[in-house]
Amino acid sequence: MHSGKTSPFSSFSPADRRLSALYRHLEGSSSIAAMDSIAAAPTSASSAAGASVFDHVVRGPEDPILGVTVAYNKDQSPVKLNLGVGAYRTEEGKPLVLNVVRRAEQMLVNDNSRVKEYLPIVGLADFNKLSAKLILGADSPAIQENRVTTVQCLSGTGSLRVGAEFLARHYHEHTIYIPQPTWGNHPKVFGFAGLSVKSYRYYDPATRGLDFQGLLEDLGSAPSGAIVLLHACAHNPTGVDPTPQQWEQIRQLMRSKALLPFFDSAYQGFASGNLDADAQSVRIFVNDGGECLVAQSYAKNLGLYGERVGALSIVCRTADVAGRVESQLKLVIRPMYSNPPLHGASIVATILKDRNMFQEWTIELKAMADRIITMRQKLFDALCSRGTPGDWSHIIKQIGMFTFTGLNSEQVAFMTKEYHIYMTSDGRISMAGLSSKTVPHLADAIHAAVKRAA
Ligand SMILES: Cc1ncc(COP(=O)(O)O)c(C=O)c1O
Repeated sequence: MHSGKTSPFSSFSPADRRLSALYRHLEGSSSIAAMDSIAAAPTSASSAAGASVFDHVVRGPEDPILGVTVAYNKDQSPVKLNLGVGAYRTEEGKPLVLNVVRRAEQMLVNDNSRVKEYLPIVGLADFNKLSAKLILGADSPAIQENRVTTVQCLSGTGSLRVGAEFLARHYHEHTIYIPQPTWGNHPKVFGFAGLSVKSYRYYDPATRGLDFQGLLEDLGSAPSGAIVLLHACAHNPTGVDPTPQQWEQIRQLMRSKALLPFFDSAYQGFASGNLDADAQSVRIFVNDGGECLVAQSYAKNLGLYGERVGALSIVCRTADVAGRVESQLKLVIRPMYSNPPLHGASIVATILKDRNMFQEWTIELKAMADRIITMRQKLFDALCSRGTPGDWSHIIKQIGMFTFTGLNSEQVAFMTKEYHIYMTSDGRISMAGLSSKTVPHLADAIHAAVKRAA
């Protein structure tokens, strides 16, 4: 779509035409071009000669994260280990379907009154209501005052994309600031939705912690009204989150400059094991009465990765504004995918509305979070016992699914070649992919990679 010369919005409304202008702008944008190597223009000769009309299409690069799994799958080694993709594994290295999810699915299957009709454009009503409560808190004034519109979307990614496209059409400031580094898909999701992407300092490699001063300076010099992407908890890829006091300072700064918060909540409950604790960052922003967006994913915390179930909530000043915003969200969604899938949202709604099932979920969620925390300790201990040079305390300080090890791309390549360990080239490892059995192998590999460079 990005190599075409005409915009798909040419005959639409003024808002669509604004998007069209952005689209043309993106066409010429080197950053977007660099994201998806753009094909050379087709030649009529190739089709005349009977060759494929797609002969000019150049092979695109693998996604840097999902490409790790592609490489892993090709490796025949019995000791190979995939720490690239952020998906939970059991101690036996197997994917996990939560018992409460199995139970909910069984109930859904046994209910013969259920049909497979289309959902509304905004998705399953119960799911939307319960999702807003889960992230904002059951007693949230914004919910009680009907100032929140929630639409079911295709997991976290789809929620971000719908929110971004809404902002590109209806918000006056088109620049979004994302942390440096961030989840690799963020710049593409926002860029292709029509926003202009800039970054703010977030991580300090020297301390392997938060560059709080840099963050405050960069947000402090952002233009008034700019959008700011914030990871609600368990920042990916660094595992470094602001403290509650730092969140409060960020909130004050952002509100004083009318910066619009867009939260990405992909790990609620998965970081600390507690759903409310992991939602605190969002709640301090909502509780001041101001506006924000929140994208929620149920991929990790309910293990519903492939069901693609998530939600976008937009917290507005008044119920009237929220209603109008929702009407426009429908206009974003309808031409994109019409309406979201039924099954995953039904599972989530079944669990969230039943007190016992909800309780059962929190226990299973805590067990997943605790296993990850245990893996952190085991890896840290294993490196200490090997006398691996360097300070590895960040492994136990960082939170959530990932550890940003500090290993460089050369060391990563060495570990892949010699130890069959797969991870993203920035040195991020998924702690959820580790087990007690595989920790020694990883520690050996890190030790060798570090010693080699020393
Ligand atoms: C920070 C962050 N945001 C969003 C997502 C989106 O995940 P999904 O679309 O699978 O819900 C992920 C997944 O890895 C993530 O790490």
